[in-house]
Amino acid sequence: MQLMALCPFGLEKLTRDEVKNLGFPVSSQAAGKVFFEGGWDAIMKANLHLRTAERVLAVVGQYPAGDFDQLFEGTSALPWEDWLSPRCTIVVEKVKSFKSKLTSVPAVQGVLQKAVFQRLGSRWGVQSLPQVGPQTGLRVYLDHDRALAAVDTTGAALHNRGYRKVAGEAPVKENLAAALLLFSGWRRKYPLYDPLCGSGTILGEALLFAYDIPPGIRRSFSFEQLVPFQALDWKILKDEARARIDTSHRVRVYGSDKDARVLEAARENLGRLGLEVQVPLEQISMEEARADRLPGADGSGFLITNPPYGERLNDRPHAENLSRQMRHFSRNFPGWKLGVLTSLETFTQQIGLEPYVVRDLVNGPLPVKYYQFQL
Ligand SMILES: C[S@@+](CC[C@H](N)C(=O)[O-])C[C@H]1O[C@@H](n2cnc3c(N)ncnc32)[C@H](O)[C@@H]1O
Repeated sequence: MQLMALCPFGLEKLTRDEVKNLGFPVSSQAAGKVFFEGGWDAIMKANLHLRTAERVLAVVGQYPAGDFDQLFEGTSALPWEDWLSPRCTIVVEKVKSFKSKLTSVPAVQGVLQKAVFQRLGSRWGVQSLPQVGPQTGLRVYLDHDRALAAVDTTGAALHNRGYRKVAGEAPVKENLAAALLLFSGWRRKYPLYDPLCGSGTILGEALLFAYDIPPGIRRSFSFEQLVPFQALDWKILKDEARARIDTSHRVRVYGSDKDARVLEAARENLGRLGLEVQVPLEQISMEEARADRLPGADGSGFLITNPPYGERLNDRPHAENLSRQMRHFSRNFPGWKLGVLTSLETFTQQIGLEPYVVRDLVNGPLPVKYYQFQL
């Protein structure tokens, strides 16, 4: 079966490596998409374990779709009844058209829905499809007049791990935070500090990573509503994954922020992970941050953070000033590595350092860069 992991632009290589590490062959990759092969275990494992992806789709079929007749014929020829259950509400949630004659999203959505409903209606012997129960999403991608129709196996996007219920202003998504950790090369033997930690997303992801906690262990997925789903297999897979969680490692993760309110949010969010480790969270301004005030952080470590971007015009001077203030890290964190996610084009000039890692990414709609510096 062909599967597709969707990820934010710029994370394709990380997502691809994650898929490969789970043991599934990757067939190809495109912007924001990684195609791979696997059976039901791949659907369950990918949703449970992928840290950087947004969702996992199962490809139901591919067919010519140069006009609406072809789209209708091709869609109704697919075995939707093997996937979709009468207990669900079926919704065509996404249509994307690239270099294709069919470009109208609502029109494609309408034809797809009609074709799927007609097929299922005749298989199930009903006139109209139920509009009750959990939602199952369908997606169609048109590319050079060919359609790829897929079922969403994820539901709420994968960055919703379930531990972050409260967020400060402009929180980074969990999968992007996980990506920063993977880009940085941080390992649990090194101290990790986010001096602008907000609601603690980078810290939360670091704890999941350090203890081998699958990011999806606390949540449910759309695939649980699909026809081939076997509850026992899913339970076994989760039990095995839980058995591999090892919280005996010594992990040194620290956060600080000037805002007491967001620190409270961070405390609540990290507390929801249910771990015994206490993450020291201090209310100080970034300008006061120093390696020697972090308890137990001997040796050099990783500073990983996403400062305020200054996207609104009146915030920009603050963002630039804060970037200049970061120059003190070279003095106060000698030998550490500094990783920063920012949309500020002048960031490297402000901090006055040459990055040895630069990654072009997007944070929601915003083009951003991840820089890493040796202090
Ligand atoms: C973009 S947010 C970080 C979001 C965080 N990664 C999260 O997931 O919630 C930037 C944070 O920097 C904090 N901040 C801004 N200026 C600061 C300063 N001078 N010292 C310490 N914290 C500061 C803000 O309070 C805010 O929580």
